[in-house]
Amino acid sequence: MYRKTPFLFSAVTLVILLAACAVPSATQPPAAQPPAEQPTTPPQEAAPTQAPQAELPPAQAPEKPSTLTVLCTPQEDWCQAMTRAFEAETGIKTSYVRLSSGEALARLRAGKDNPEFSVWWGGPADTYVAAKAEGLLEPYISPNAAAIPDSQKDPEGYWTGVYVGALGFCSNRDVLAKLGVEKPDSWDDLLDERLKGQVAMAHPASSGTAYTAVWTQVVRLGSVDAAFDYLKKLHNNILQYTKSGAAPGQMAARGEIAVAIIFSHDCVKFADEGAPMLEVSFPKEGTGYEIGGVALIKGAPEPEAAKMWIDWVLTAKAQEIGATVKSYQLPTNPEAKVSERSVKLSEVKLVDYDFIEAGKSRKAITQRFEDEITVAPK
Ligand code: F6P
Repeated sequence: MYRKTPFLFSAVTLVILLAACAVPSATQPPAAQPPAEQPTTPPQEAAPTQAPQAELPPAQAPEKPSTLTVLCTPQEDWCQAMTRAFEAETGIKTSYVRLSSGEALARLRAGKDNPEFSVWWGGPADTYVAAKAEGLLEPYISPNAAAIPDSQKDPEGYWTGVYVGALGFCSNRDVLAKLGVEKPDSWDDLLDERLKGQVAMAHPASSGTAYTAVWTQVVRLGSVDAAFDYLKKLHNNILQYTKSGAAPGQMAARGEIAVAIIFSHDCVKFADEGAPMLEVSFPKEGTGYEIGGVALIKGAPEPEAAKMWIDWVLTAKAQEIGATVKSYQLPTNPEAKVSERSVKLSEVKLVDYDFIEAGKSRKAITQRFEDEITVAPK
């Protein structure tokens, strides 16, 4: 008897303990789950593993992501309209930082070990090609990417095209008239001595627009050396290399210069926003164009929200938002409506722009531009 008592005591204690452990887990109401704003815990970790199967609470749905930070390269008002619409549709609190393509690449590089952004939206694909080569992107093939033409996306899913647009000349008709110069329709027209200090473009190290302009010279003239010979001559007429690609269009709108080398859709935007003296023209030798990209960033802090963003920006509905803020890039989703203000690529003579080659050469060419052009006397 004496020896049996502790055993009996232990057995009873064990039964009580087991019951005590099982009951709260099995009856835990759904309301006790952490709210959506809380850091997400994978449901399988949160579910009790000791309780009998029959007493498990209903399977928990994966928690919805609560925030998203977008690295945004198009114009500020389009970044705003897109992030607001995404937030309204998903409830995900969405913020953005607007940076030109080269700046964006530098920022991703600097934050490689601790990324501050989850997704990058907009800006020409050549910079995405460069980012992929540097291991800064994570492949993600959205189910919605099936609608996007193969020529406008990376086959491995490192980036997907969201819009397209052609590079052009954006002239202030009044300034040209004062100078007695015709609207340019050739790259050589920009070398006219009467246009000294009357032309502007961005710097290709910071701007994807300007890099498109530089690579266009490489393609049309057949070599990097020939392109730099042209750029040296053009430098004589350049008033300023701006940081952002579209800024020279605003200079033209203010009458500070006669001609800006920018994407044609930006010129149409500025004209529609109160600068009707701006006029688009294209070089007859051919011009470059962009495929604006979207990509998941490697090590993204909000990967699920980033994938939702990518899925969403590839839909026709999301791609139609641009025109509501006078951003007239052509959508890549064939189902999206095309604004009548958009410049159709079929109406422009394009050079054979190879985004992969352009992206691979980006570092060397921007460095050479810095060494040979930016510092050259005029
Ligand atoms: O202003 C919009 C836009 O021209 C986009 O079409 C383009 O992808 C982006 O700006 C390029 O910006 P940046 O030249 O400043 O890198």
